[in-house]
Amino acid sequence: MSYQIEDISPGQQVRLRGWVYRQRASKDVAFVVLRDASDRLQCVFKKDSVSEDVFEKAASLPIESAVIIEGNVREDERAPTGLELDASSLEIIHEAERFPITRDKSEDFLLDVRHLWLRSQKLTSMMKIKHTFFRAAREFLMNQHFYEVQPPLITASACEGGSTLFSLDYFGDEAYLSQSGQLYAEALIYALERVFCFAPSFRAEKSRTKRHLMEYWHLEPEMTWYSHEDNIQLQIALLQYVCNQIATYNQKELKFFGRDPHTLYNVQFDRMTYDDAVKQLQEQGFNVSSGVDFGSNEEYSLTAESPRFLIVERYPLEIKAFYMKTDPQYPHIALCNDVLAPEGYGEIIGGSERETDNRLLIQRLQEEGQDLDDYEWYLDLRKYGSVPHSGFGMGVERVIRWICDLDHIRDATPFPRTLTRYYP
Ligand code: 4AD
Ligand code: MG
Repeated sequence: MSYQIEDISPGQQVRLRGWVYRQRASKDVAFVVLRDASDRLQCVFKKDSVSEDVFEKAASLPIESAVIIEGNVREDERAPTGLELDASSLEIIHEAERFPITRDKSEDFLLDVRHLWLRSQKLTSMMKIKHTFFRAAREFLMNQHFYEVQPPLITASACEGGSTLFSLDYFGDEAYLSQSGQLYAEALIYALERVFCFAPSFRAEKSRTKRHLMEYWHLEPEMTWYSHEDNIQLQIALLQYVCNQIATYNQKELKFFGRDPHTLYNVQFDRMTYDDAVKQLQEQGFNVSSGVDFGSNEEYSLTAESPRFLIVERYPLEIKAFYMKTDPQYPHIALCNDVLAPEGYGEIIGGSERETDNRLLIQRLQEEGQDLDDYEWYLDLRKYGSVPHSGFGMGVERVIRWICDLDHIRDATPFPRTLTRYYP
């Protein structure tokens, strides 16, 4: 019977299938570190206990060869998992060519061979954490009676302004890759009330930063009857649940990234208005004034020293998207919020209550220079049974970047699309 490395225990006779992660040999003994999806294990081939043929093969195995190894599991306190294998047989399924990735390769080279670098501990650990993120987020929302829905990815209109749209030739017409499923989610709540989209979003971000991808995974819940405050409470509960699940199920991976699971078990939130954030930044010496959106330096500075998330709410209307609801008491304020990750990682969520007054929506679309024809269907939603509603968008890779303490967001996704790269 074949085992996964993480499932074996001392005394067992096992058959393991995987790849050669590391290999070294001396005259009498060959060490093969075997890798499978679950873990790594050192397999020891002793010259005097295996056939000559097996020993020769083990002693000269190229790394990343695919192999099947049988042997007896034994405790070894020096091994990372506390276990080693006394190998008795070796079957080579594929002898690898010389693997191009060696110790001292540049970041650029590693990106060129991303399809091979995915096997690294860093990227595998990240992908396992991201897997838990997807499961946990779906689980949380479905437990709250949300329906998962599918927005189109080819669209006729901008959700987040024209400057970051990727356009494409749609049989002679100009169409765009979706920046957000929100406007479609807003149509779907009239049928299903609480919905969420889990889909890629596309942003033609023309600046080279460590937190922008051209293609990223976007989680977007949209809810009827939710106020601005209800919306914030849902964001908090979702983040708490997802972080808790990752702390529970990904201890090994978190340890690899040097992140203590305890910091994820009970995440905390601070909260301030945009105006107070401006004051705090001014006190820190930033030259910001009210009515200007925060750049990455400002966002960094707001949480750089903090282990807590920061919710910044009630931004000026003029720096936020057309669909955000105007505060009825303060007509220059939008009922919206961002969530900034701890430790200076910046924005991970943007959300708001939605404007339901078509006069205001039309005015703001015109101010943005949008063609009203493209939004006719969206304006229809306020004509037939309009209800108060709210929603938000969470950038999955932004959250993963913080959880894994990654220097660059490209390592929060297997095949990153950045300003200069869409291969492989
Ligand atoms: O703040 P944004 O632009 O908001 C929206 O798209 C809304 N329509 C969401 C909604 O209310 N349904 O984007 C939402 C989140 C950001 O907070 C950020 O986490 C992520 O999407 N994001 C990016 N992540 C990676 N690379 C980029 N270029 C991103 N742009 C936005
Ligand atoms: Mg935003």
